[in-house]
Amino acid sequence: MISRGPANRRSWNGQYSRISVERVASGSINKTTLMYQTLLTSLEKNILTVTINRPDKLNAINATVMTELGLVAREINTNPEIRSAIITGAGDRAFVAGADISEFNGVQTDGTALSAKGQQVFFAFERSAKPVVAAVNGFALGAGCELAMSCHFRIASSTAKFGQPEVNLGLLPGYGGSQRLVQLIGKGRAMELLLTAGMIDAATALQYGLVNHVTEPGNLLAKTREILELVNTKAPLALAAAIRAANAVFDETVEGYALEAQLFGECFATEDLREGKAAFLEKRKAIFTGR
Ligand code: COA
Repeated sequence: MISRGPANRRSWNGQYSRISVERVASGSINKTTLMYQTLLTSLEKNILTVTINRPDKLNAINATVMTELGLVAREINTNPEIRSAIITGAGDRAFVAGADISEFNGVQTDGTALSAKGQQVFFAFERSAKPVVAAVNGFALGAGCELAMSCHFRIASSTAKFGQPEVNLGLLPGYGGSQRLVQLIGKGRAMELLLTAGMIDAATALQYGLVNHVTEPGNLLAKTREILELVNTKAPLALAAAIRAANAVFDETVEGYALEAQLFGECFATEDLREGKAAFLEKRKAIFTGR
């Protein structure tokens, strides 16, 4: 079950508009979160919970969901109230059961453009300067598994199921799944999943290293929040640097060790380093400002 708790959980009110998009694009968003047509958002303790909200279609990613995921990725990085984010799915059956198959119209669909757009949006989560974690509450198939893999790490409910069943449809994963599955679980296991269209349960995903923790369904969001509340106490610029450096391992255009040294140097110039050092020496908790 997804908690509907917080009063500030927001959904589309028909006002989703270019103004909102422009406010996000210009970085002028502050304090409030945007309203979306297919996403619910809730900001609590500086953690934005993003719930993909098409439970009757097992949260399949149609064009609107994809566009809004791109917008929310930008909102996460431009709203100073947000320090980290959770991506999850509405209802208790699915995180996301794939791209919306009803929108695949053979040669009328520009598959290359569809894939490029999905890849771009999922890169925005992977390259987010603020931590983004997937709370996988059920089926994470196709684009759902790809979305979860584009997050910085994953927590799963014991009911979660993962797979890349695209070959059943005459496709391969199109939103980075052929690459990230190999990165995360190794080539042999990834090849088996890709070629058999098989599904693995949460326990197997844990064993493979696809997810970091498995919880009871009712505890999934609480467990994910608990981890992010800890993360949110850390120095924001250092978090961003760690994400960039770790991502560089899989980016052939970047020399990871050189980037690490550069980022290490940049962190030395931050007020947060002075604060972290002072707090350690004074035996108190550091209060980081992200400067
Ligand atoms: N795209 C569009 N609609 C989807 C969908 C998807 N990827 N996955 C599920 N749905 C819809 C179903 O069409 C159904 O809609 P309907 O009630 O209007 O007919 C609804 O969600 C419920 O799904 P259903 O198939 O009835 O549930 P189930 O419990 O029998 O099976 C799954 C669950 C996940 C095994 C099955 O829905 C499935 O195989 N989905 C597609 C998975 C996939 O191939 N993903 C990769 C896409 S590239």
